[in-house]
Amino acid sequence: MAILVAGGAGYIGSHMVKDLVEHGQDVVVADNLSTGHRAAINPKAKFYEGDIRDRKFLDKIFDNEDIEAVVHFAAFSIVPESMSKPLKYFDNNTGGMITLLEAMRDHHIKYIVFSSTAATYGVPEHMPIKETDPQNPINPYGLSKLMMEKMMHWADKAYGIKFVALRYFNVAGAAPDGTIGEDHGPETHLVPIILQVAQGKRDELSIFGDDYNTPDGTNVRDYVHVMDLADAHILAIKYLEAGNDSNAFNLGSSTGFSNKQMLEAAREVTGKPIPAKIAPRRPGDPDSLVAASDKARNVLGWDPKYDDVHDIIATAWKWHSTHPKGYDDRD
Ligand code: UFG
Repeated sequence: MAILVAGGAGYIGSHMVKDLVEHGQDVVVADNLSTGHRAAINPKAKFYEGDIRDRKFLDKIFDNEDIEAVVHFAAFSIVPESMSKPLKYFDNNTGGMITLLEAMRDHHIKYIVFSSTAATYGVPEHMPIKETDPQNPINPYGLSKLMMEKMMHWADKAYGIKFVALRYFNVAGAAPDGTIGEDHGPETHLVPIILQVAQGKRDELSIFGDDYNTPDGTNVRDYVHVMDLADAHILAIKYLEAGNDSNAFNLGSSTGFSNKQMLEAAREVTGKPIPAKIAPRRPGDPDSLVAASDKARNVLGWDPKYDDVHDIIATAWKWHSTHPKGYDDRD
């Protein structure tokens, strides 16, 4: 049987597909290539180009392929963009989940592992954030994903579709063999932007705000390596296959790094000066987001291999420095 990876041409999805293939798993990828790259899809996976909001497209896949479980990455994920284009997020993310769950129900697909986010917690009441903490998102992206979690909850009750929601904190890094990496157009994430400055593709880093309620005034985030994240999804599939109940897990490292600390770490890894300036706050950014991730470790048996941001940045730097134009497949 195969795993369907929706969004398998994107940054995290493509690393998931690579990990599954390397574990000997048959993989089918569905992606509309709106933000993903054909070249990122592992050649051992079978690729269907289309949109998960298209019911006929999903029916074709579920009719043709023997799908056991869906891993769902096919969503928009840029916090500031969601502030200016909220309906785009509710349409693709939240709306896409309706079509996907309906198709899964009608084709009797029982398991889904879902990319949720720390953004569902909003401004946390205490740190590190636990899975049982209140979820009050402060941006449309976080709300779109919280609505998707709640839809899965009720689809489980009504149709028995079991889910694992994995709430990612800040994902970074690239496959250590340097074959695939992070390439968004335009890029908005901190680590690739810092590395683009190191490469000379940008003049300087703008640090968005230094007056937050954090030790050095810049936002604090919890960085997790993309391959460790992919491993957690494989464990989540096994957890569901073993007959366990639907559940939600944080995926982070339990350690926070400020934007200034990430800049320093990147200077050390790359050996480049990486000029930076302080710029105004970016809308939608909570002060700090750090995960309590002992639940994923204890229940799923997750054992992340990268616990040092320098090592995470080093794998990203390997990809960036060997692929200065990214996948180079844009029009
Ligand atoms: N930042 C800068 N300058 C930049 C880019 C980012 O200072 O040029 C700052 C941001 O303001 C923020 C931090 O770097 O303080 C991290 O920003 P990212 O855009 O890299 O990531 P976010 O924390 O906004 O969001 C990421 C994912 C979301 C996820 C969230 C969970 O993109 O999908 O982590 O923590 F929900």
